[in-house]
Amino acid sequence: MRIYCEKDYQAMSRRAANIIAAEIIRKPDCVLGLATGSTPVGTYKELIAMYQQGDVSFKEVHSVNLDEYKGLAPTHDQSYRYFMQDNLFNHVDIDPANTNVPNGLAEDAEAECAAYDRLVESFGYADLQLLGIGNNGHIGFNEPDSSFTKATHVVDLTESTISANARFFESANEVPRQALTMGIGCIMAARRILLVANGAGKADALYNTVCGPITPECPATILQLHKDVVIVADEAALSKVIAAGVAVCR
Ligand code: PGA
Repeated sequence: MRIYCEKDYQAMSRRAANIIAAEIIRKPDCVLGLATGSTPVGTYKELIAMYQQGDVSFKEVHSVNLDEYKGLAPTHDQSYRYFMQDNLFNHVDIDPANTNVPNGLAEDAEAECAAYDRLVESFGYADLQLLGIGNNGHIGFNEPDSSFTKATHVVDLTESTISANARFFESANEVPRQALTMGIGCIMAARRILLVANGAGKADALYNTVCGPITPECPATILQLHKDVVIVADEAALSKVIAAGVAVCR
């Protein structure tokens, strides 16, 4: 694991965007695994700026997103499809046909999950998978559980995730209770993983990810078994990792 400690959110976003842009420049037709949530918003802003300056093009890029709320239409302003359009896709030259987000409205959600797995497999999995991390250590919507789930699946969101995400909705009652999420198998099959995190609220989750025992109780700990993981985070999120004496790049 390579860990970059950045001084603030903007520096974290710039570093993460540089790593993604480097991947696109290395392989213009790469497959990007993309994430939603507040953490990657700045990373997407930096990528848009690089595109506008002519430094990077998404023309041949394919994307696969990690997850989607079950029951939300792509036009719902809290759906992850809407988020991706609003925060990245509408502002760069990616071909809309090359962007993929699980369909939260699929009548048969299980069949949608199986089809999503086949799709990601048909791409040969992501070249670079961007991840945020939940306060509870979730990646995608792989919530703390008694076992890791390999395949894309429908998940019941935990109370901690529902309350963390309530800030985006009128009230916690409006947060969908279920989501479709890429499983741990697809995430771990990515050639490279880039995890971004900021703020003290993520300090325990990051400490467990880097230093804790590998356990489905903190799904991100599985990343210890991946051979190419880059963590880009700010000082506050890394405070406990640094206090444990783990070397970080500055
Ligand atoms: P956040 O969410 O970026 O909004 O903190 C991260 C996550 O839940 O994966």
